[in-house]
Amino acid sequence: MNKIIYLDAAASALKPDSVIKAERDFLQKSYANSGRGVCARSVAVDNMVKHAREKVAEFINAESNQVVFTSGATDGLNRIVNILTSQPWYNPSANFAVSDLDHHSARLPWEALLHHGKIRKLIKCDLDKNLDIAIDSIPKTDFFVITAMSNVLGRAQDVKSIIAAARKKNPNVITIVDASQYVVHNKINVQEWDCDFMVFSGHKIGADTGVGVLYIRDTKKYFPDKFGGGMVLSVADMAHAKESRGGWIYQNCSSCWVTADAPEKWEAGTLPLTQIVGLVPAIDYLESNRPNLDLIKYLYDELSKIKRVKLLTLRDSALLSFIVDGMHPLDIGALLGVRNICVRVGNMCASWVHKYLGVPGTVRISVGAWNTMDDVIQTAEIIKQIVK
Ligand code: ALA
Repeated sequence: MNKIIYLDAAASALKPDSVIKAERDFLQKSYANSGRGVCARSVAVDNMVKHAREKVAEFINAESNQVVFTSGATDGLNRIVNILTSQPWYNPSANFAVSDLDHHSARLPWEALLHHGKIRKLIKCDLDKNLDIAIDSIPKTDFFVITAMSNVLGRAQDVKSIIAAARKKNPNVITIVDASQYVVHNKINVQEWDCDFMVFSGHKIGADTGVGVLYIRDTKKYFPDKFGGGMVLSVADMAHAKESRGGWIYQNCSSCWVTADAPEKWEAGTLPLTQIVGLVPAIDYLESNRPNLDLIKYLYDELSKIKRVKLLTLRDSALLSFIVDGMHPLDIGALLGVRNICVRVGNMCASWVHKYLGVPGTVRISVGAWNTMDDVIQTAEIIKQIVK
């Protein structure tokens, strides 16, 4: 068997031809920087960025000035913490809530604040019998990190109800949704969710690495967290600055400068232009080619026949995680790997859910639009051979 069976979509998706073609065409035929030139090419790139932003806004039901391009979900999640903690009103005696579903990048930036004494307390929500966030355990909190779908358990959370419950306890709670896995399988509606921030990565939906989306609901409320490049509208004297139609005015003894308005005020430096080009066809492709979860159901049914296999996900989950009695997940990953089957093994950068499950690591199988029934029939057969 020479063909690779790639069953690691949850780590990163393979790229549709339309994405590859769009990026190649851009690089070969129409490359220029954005926001910096007046020639036709530069203006075309500005229009490309504008169009991509509108596309993303429509995709998540936001306004286009609420869509900020980042380098990925991890960047977005870290930047949210930097944005919030650099606001003049930020109060280090605040607390934050999390759940054991979180990816390291969603929770560790907050835990780092805890370490430095820059936030008072971590509060953990419980999980219910299906390992979903238990809505009745949602606390009164100032900041709330919500994982819309765990990358280990693959179950869509009821984000709308979770946020509504948090707002009942504290109407001013600031909610941050990590939609990195959710976006692959479900339509995002930030307005319906009523969230303050939301992130996802391009590479998990078939776009390139190096681009992500950060949704910021309140475009007037927050100062920028990074400086330079396109976020600067002008560096001027105070009289001139006051006349500018930009975002924030900064001044000190040496300079006075005005930032651009949202979303550019959060986009310092050159954008990942090629990756933004690829985001548009990736969204189009995803919307009509969501992963076929019947493949997961098939694997679930087949693997549940193997005595030594313990399935950790439910039949209708968006992915399948399991352990094998007496075998280390790494060994299973390696044995599948030498047979050209790619899966992910380990703690998936989500240690807390593994701790909750009482296992050091898992084997995870996740599918994308490229996978076929034949892929999972072969995989189930090989797992049976390896495990028996
Ligand atoms: N967070 C990614 C995963 O789940 C990389 O594999």
